[in-house]
Amino acid sequence: TVLSEEALYRPYFHFTPEEKWMNDPNGMFYYNGYYHLFFQHYPDSTVWGPMHWGHAVSTDLLNWKELPIALYPDESGYIFSGSAVVDHENTSGFGENGAPPVIAMYTIHNPEKRDNDQVDVETQGIAYSTDEGMTWTKYQGNPVIENPGIRDFRDPKIVRDTTRNQWVMVLAAQDRAKFYRSDNLKDWEFLSDFGVETGAHGGVWECPDFFPMTVEDTGETKWVLIQSVNPGGPNGGSATQYFIGDFDGTTFILDPGFEAELNKRKAFWIDYGKDNYAGVTWSGIPDSDGRKLFIGWMSNWEYAQQVPTTAWRSAMTLPRELRLVKTGNTYQLASQPVRELKDFRARASKKHDIALNTPFVYHTESNAALNSTEISLTLEGIGNGTSVIQLYNKEGDSLTFGLNSQKKEFFIDRTKTGKTGFSEKFAEKKSVAPRFSSSATLDIHIVLDKTSIEIFYDNGSVVMTEIFFPEAPFDTFRLTATDSEAVIKEIAIHQLKFD
Ligand code: FRU
Repeated sequence: TVLSEEALYRPYFHFTPEEKWMNDPNGMFYYNGYYHLFFQHYPDSTVWGPMHWGHAVSTDLLNWKELPIALYPDESGYIFSGSAVVDHENTSGFGENGAPPVIAMYTIHNPEKRDNDQVDVETQGIAYSTDEGMTWTKYQGNPVIENPGIRDFRDPKIVRDTTRNQWVMVLAAQDRAKFYRSDNLKDWEFLSDFGVETGAHGGVWECPDFFPMTVEDTGETKWVLIQSVNPGGPNGGSATQYFIGDFDGTTFILDPGFEAELNKRKAFWIDYGKDNYAGVTWSGIPDSDGRKLFIGWMSNWEYAQQVPTTAWRSAMTLPRELRLVKTGNTYQLASQPVRELKDFRARASKKHDIALNTPFVYHTESNAALNSTEISLTLEGIGNGTSVIQLYNKEGDSLTFGLNSQKKEFFIDRTKTGKTGFSEKFAEKKSVAPRFSSSATLDIHIVLDKTSIEIFYDNGSVVMTEIFFPEAPFDTFRLTATDSEAVIKEIAIHQLKFD
């Protein structure tokens, strides 16, 4: 039987638009029980075009309901990426009847100016909602920030700076992040620049995010700047780096320990796989929850417009919880799947203390496949050898990933995953990531959907996310280790179930 595109490739639990093109996640906020997700959307084609903000909501971050388009392009231009905040104190004055208004800030991109080679192509606008994000009105006074003479000037992300009682906004301007402040979300004042001489600059900076976080264990507050760059990622194309430091209300300064480590590493990447771009965090998560929730676009500008789906194009990553940890003298982010994923575990297969002198092989039972599956395992006794996991199916497709300890390198190889020929860039080589830990113990957390793998190594300190398009679902998991002492301390394979 030949499976339909829908059956073979529509993810079970990663957000995809019902139809047509999607790129960056936008304007995510939480209010009154709902997680809102907006997204760069072109409803008329499966390639990029005049940008709209699509809209979806969820109560559990995994089942999404797509709603009518929130923002349409108009004579001023396309609606590019941006953010949204719940204005609890009605600082903007857009509120009605005591309900807090929701303010979205986005880039207005004027394609005619771009075609005429003008520099002032991008300005910033706002829109407001008085019905909890369901319908939106563009502000009459747009643009709220004029173009200062920089061609790439976009993707505003607003955060409430509770220490100084101000709104802070960061946007990307070619080779730097620019910070602004406001009291009312309408009048914005430029504060400072960051980044011209630091971090990865293989391409233009896009889609920043900026927020305070409490450091695990030490309890300190540090500010995190997330900064996407395209191209220039660690394995080619688009990727997302981050910086950690302090913010005095005006200027962002790198933490000295972080900066020393950055000088060695050149960049800190939120994900080393090829398919996690333009990711930012949710606003409005209540203090009682306290999580920093992140979602990215699970594709890469190198081939996003060629991937082999015809009804829709591209998915979001799994929503992830970010943690800020101190390791030695530096700080770093770690990611893990949101805990809500556990609620969808249906059947588990658990084993422990398995010597790896012969490969460990797990065949799925009939009707189940490794395409809606969460696998957690801990390996012990890792020496200088390799630990390799291979997923395969009856069509001869395989996905291979793991650790090369000699090189202190994780890798993922999708060159034989099935449909790969749609773009030269898609499977030209395997992707690699450094392993920072030297521990003989390695924990691996893997989340599989029909067309994606998200791998969290060493407690989420190294993440690799990649997409693939097999001819049939993978049904077999095989783990081989060359170190004679290597054992699987424990492994849990959970089949996930979504309605
Ligand atoms: C990132 C990006 C943003 C821009 C949007 C346009 O993928 O290029 O910088 O706002 O996509 O769709």
